[in-house]
Amino acid sequence: MSELNLILFGPPGAGKGTQADRLRSDFRLPFISTGDMLRENVKEGTELGKEAQKYMDAGDLVPDDLIVKMAAERLQAPDAQDGFILDGFPRTLEQGKELDKLLSQLARRVTAALLIDVPDEEVVRRISGRRVCVKSGHNYHVDFDPPKREGICDQDGSRLVQRDDDKPDVVQNRLHVYHEQTEPLIEYYDERGLMRRIDGTRSPADVNDHIRAVIATLRMEDDV
Ligand code: AP5
Repeated sequence: MSELNLILFGPPGAGKGTQADRLRSDFRLPFISTGDMLRENVKEGTELGKEAQKYMDAGDLVPDDLIVKMAAERLQAPDAQDGFILDGFPRTLEQGKELDKLLSQLARRVTAALLIDVPDEEVVRRISGRRVCVKSGHNYHVDFDPPKREGICDQDGSRLVQRDDDKPDVVQNRLHVYHEQTEPLIEYYDERGLMRRIDGTRSPADVNDHIRAVIATLRMEDDV
């Protein structure tokens, strides 16, 4: 069977990070989130983190050249050689084309792009209740996916906080940026027969079942 090179995408708050925890334990594939990588750089105060922070705080996209370089290095790491799940990359047509170029230089290709589809009103509801573990970034929602103890991560007992870019005006800009700059990628992958749509309005467990079913079908198609 050939490798699975998957892209998970959708609007902010669609549930990509929530599915990450589940998919990591379901499949032996690295889950590569450019948002998490950038937040790590901000936390460590690297040059990239300092440059990226102003864009992230405003809900704007970090410039393509910085992101493409960071993603290209990560995709060539040893653990990504047998496949990967990308979250939050590509996010512009330019990034999509650069990803194709990089993979074709490595004699690889995107297997499928999975769109977790959620309307804007639901995004706002979800993001306003999101809480994130300060230590390892596990996601919760105060109503839809609460921790067992309020304000404490179930997995490692760390504090749960609200993300800086989850303020209402920043969320509105992130949605605007998604519609303007990221949605054109849907057509890009549709035209290539790679787009698979997932109804993201269902429960986290249902969304996970759907994603697993799509991946199982991709593996079967590959075996035929
Ligand atoms: P990034 O971290 O990628 O943020 P995002 O795409 O905006 O996505 P989120 O992390 O906000 O949402 P999510 O889909 O993971 O939802 P979650 O699972 O938490 O990017 C941040 C910033 O980095 C960008 O704004 C940009 O500046 C920069 N950046 C990153 N990549 C870049 C790139 N390629 N190019 C340029 N810039 C880039 O779920 C949300 C909430 O809903 C949670 O509380 C959760 O518990 C709840 N929830 C989840 N699923 C469900 C469900 N099914 N039902 C009910 N509630 C649910």
